[in-house]
Amino acid sequence: MKKITLAESSQLLDPEFIFGVATAAFQIEGGADSRLPTIWDTFCAQPGRIKDGSDGLVACDHIHRWQQDIELIASLGVDAYRFSVSWARVLHADGSVNHQGMNFYLQLLDALQARNIKAFVTLYHWDLPEHIQQQGGWLNRQTAWLFQDYADKVSRAFGDKVYSYATLNEPFCSAYLGYEAGIHAPGVQNRRQGRQVAHHLLLAHGLAMQVLQRNCPSAQNGIVVNLSPCYPASDSEADQRAVAMADAYHNHWYLQPLLQGRYPDLLAELPETDQPDTEPGDLALIAQPLDYLGINYYTRTVFEATKAGWFRDVKPTAPPLTDMGWEIYPEGLTEILCGLQQHYAMPPVYITENGAAMVDNLQDGRVQDAERVAYFQQHLLAVEKAMEQGVQVAGYFAWSLMDNFEWAEGYVKRFGIVYVDYPTQQRVIKDSGLALQQLFRYKQQRTAR
Ligand code: FCB
Repeated sequence: MKKITLAESSQLLDPEFIFGVATAAFQIEGGADSRLPTIWDTFCAQPGRIKDGSDGLVACDHIHRWQQDIELIASLGVDAYRFSVSWARVLHADGSVNHQGMNFYLQLLDALQARNIKAFVTLYHWDLPEHIQQQGGWLNRQTAWLFQDYADKVSRAFGDKVYSYATLNEPFCSAYLGYEAGIHAPGVQNRRQGRQVAHHLLLAHGLAMQVLQRNCPSAQNGIVVNLSPCYPASDSEADQRAVAMADAYHNHWYLQPLLQGRYPDLLAELPETDQPDTEPGDLALIAQPLDYLGINYYTRTVFEATKAGWFRDVKPTAPPLTDMGWEIYPEGLTEILCGLQQHYAMPPVYITENGAAMVDNLQDGRVQDAERVAYFQQHLLAVEKAMEQGVQVAGYFAWSLMDNFEWAEGYVKRFGIVYVDYPTQQRVIKDSGLALQQLFRYKQQRTAR
């Protein structure tokens, strides 16, 4: 079996560096009968939306198997576990606390604490309660205040059991994939709506940061964004311009409001009918000081110019590609981290997700996913490189603890370091999980010395 190795001098082996694994509520929990419906339940029920026609009703049945899953997480030797809270599980439709749902997470938090595993809690990983969608969802400005109230109730209940909160996971996906590309819930294709949703999500983040800093001042509070470095398809002037626009539209649209309190100049170039409504003071609210920025990194993106003077992405065809068809491009991670350092006054960074879908086969109780081992090895070295250049990276989370519901791709794409045999719900640590386990345990032993 291939190993993952780091030099003895690697900063990733420093005692303070945090290694973890990540999941999200809708992707693993199941237990749909003990929570309210969400926009993803609605989306899954629409024919043709999910590639394999599946849904999140049972998923990995984590809601019933969480104790076993915590043992599994502990056995990996991680310092931390990143998971998300289901809004639809912890609050009733009238906004009051659902104690049964809240207790589920409280038990989980206690079990983590008992094993000395830090809890990284994401408040919103895309599963908006459907009844809020019925009131306009993220298109309705008021949803930002509903989110603030939800953040308040959760953070009061969890108290100091949480090491770190993230308000949102990847607002780009909720806004762009959900409202412009139409491939995520709720499946809308409308640019103006996409930009409006992005604005309300950012506003919700700012409002939630205020209550998190008040309720849990000693927790690390921040947000998680997905970033993909943008490359031009050619060195033509048109493609160069297209790439700058794509970078502003997909990456800096979130970073600049968060870190500088303003939108990219590209906003003013959009037709007025596509520009989001904003109110005075919104950007100041959005730009709350962050204790950290979470970055999810998977691949780079190549763009070309369209005749209309806009941009479109060019799908990679040359290997190495993952099972998602995403190019394996570890240099992009170093580049993103170093680029941020140059352009922004940056808080410390966590790599909150990084991983790869591969075609996995369970054979004789083993999954030999050497390509995934190589992916982790290369990306850990890419983080190390950025740290050598002065970027403050405080931790790294593998996506994902286990195979799970991969959104529009259903259960066919497997990102886990643990294999899930869905018919039996059996979990089997893949070779990549074993390789990471070896690394994580080694780091723990070194720290204990
Ligand atoms: C990210 C999501 C996560 C998972 C990975 C593959 O965009 O945050 O839930 O689906 O992609």
